Amino acid sequence: MKKTIISLLIGGLLMTSTYAKSIVCYFSCTGNTKALAEKTAKVLNADLFEIVPEVQYTSADLDWHDSKSRTSKEANDNSIRPAIKSKVDLSKYDTVILAFPIWWYTAPKIMWTFVEQNDLSGKSVVALCTSGGSGISGAEKDLKAHASKTAVWKTGSRFYANTSETELKKYFEKVLK
Ligand SMILES: Cc1cc2nc3c(=O)[nH]c(=O)nc-3n(C[C@H](O)[C@H](O)[C@H](O)COP(=O)(O)O)c2cc1C
Repeated sequence: MKKTIISLLIGGLLMTSTYAKSIVCYFSCTGNTKALAEKTAKVLNADLFEIVPEVQYTSADLDWHDSKSRTSKEANDNSIRPAIKSKVDLSKYDTVILAFPIWWYTAPKIMWTFVEQNDLSGKSVVALCTSGGSGISGAEKDLKAHASKTAVWKTGSRFYANTSETELKKYFEKVLK
């Protein structure tokens, strides 16, 4: 019993120190990723930063049935980098969680802007997404290609907006060990 309590205490301390310098940077238009990001920040005791576009996306912008919508145009042009409204200082963080929706099987172009503008050198980076079904792999590949080459990418994952804190905790214990 005593042993169990001591190991739980040590485990708790280790987790706190491992996760102490983490930040969750998220982009979300319809709230799913926001819910996931908020829960993740809580589980990791991490700071939270919302990636807000300089020009907000309207529902017409988000219409993937319209080949002329803003998101369709962004998906078809790899040179587009939507501007981000505010800056974040990542220098004090060891671990950066990137959370975003999947758009057209990859990360929204604003996430490309984010990884190009922010120095992720030497940091542990975890990509999380919500989606209608597509996985994280396309997004991870694209973001890795545009981020600092010395960022240390941990295995990212797709989650539901209503994923439980217990499930997230289990995932991060494995991924960030
Ligand atoms: C323009 C656009 C493209 C999308 N493309 C995909 C896709 O390729 N695969 C998929 O599973 N879901 C796709 N989705 C669904 C979103 O990934 C999903 O609704 C996500 O949870 C939205 O996150 P948010 O509420 O944080 O904005 C797309 C949504 C939009 C608006």
